[in-house]
Amino acid sequence: MNINNVDTPKIAPSLLAADFSCFGDEVERVTQAGADLLHFDVMDGIFVPNFGISPPLIAAVRCKSNLVFDVHIMVTHPLSYIEALVDAGSDIITFHIESQDDPHAVIDAIKKHNVSVGIAYSPNTKTDAVAPYLSSIDLILPMSVEPGFGGQSFLPNTFEKIKDLHSLINDLENSPDISVDGGVTTEISPIAIKNGATILVAGTAIFKSSNPQEIIEQLRTVE
Ligand code: DX5
Ligand code: ZN
Repeated sequence: MNINNVDTPKIAPSLLAADFSCFGDEVERVTQAGADLLHFDVMDGIFVPNFGISPPLIAAVRCKSNLVFDVHIMVTHPLSYIEALVDAGSDIITFHIESQDDPHAVIDAIKKHNVSVGIAYSPNTKTDAVAPYLSSIDLILPMSVEPGFGGQSFLPNTFEKIKDLHSLINDLENSPDISVDGGVTTEISPIAIKNGATILVAGTAIFKSSNPQEIIEQLRTVE
């Protein structure tokens, strides 16, 4: 599945910044505010020093929204999470290239379930590390903050990575979406889009705003 089959960039609120005391209501709130996808961060406390959203919680809110569930897994062994995430209703599963399972095995295991597959890479990882997989995946995600926590500032060297990815995928028959995740604000979004990003993930900017609908609209506006 190529999610971005139109020219308008897609906005994916990151539920890590939601109010966990009313998680289902938060899913409905951003769905009604005009989100295109919903981004869920799953963590194991080992790959990153934090815990995020669990597969059972994703399953519990699957009935609250018809949007694409974009699940970003920051875990050491992605292979052991796939069954549970597929059962929970994930539409896209994005794993880290720095994780310890063989990337080809993870890609195959996700595709076997007809679920879209993404690869994320951390700020200190070079684009060379993901280049061999670009023709086999649906989404590529250069992290614009250290993975694990919301509310950090966007790292500006990510723009260069987006630009490099954009030229690398240009010649591919099925080019993956370029997603960007971490510290995305309405100041960052037009530059990310101009460099080639097609999906913008934003947690703090959307959930801490008094008007998420307006922010979502602004995030997809280039001029
Ligand atoms: C960080 C997560 C992000 C995070 C983004 O590891 O992958 O999805 O929630 O949050 P903000 O937009 O607050 O940086
Ligand atoms: Zn994320």
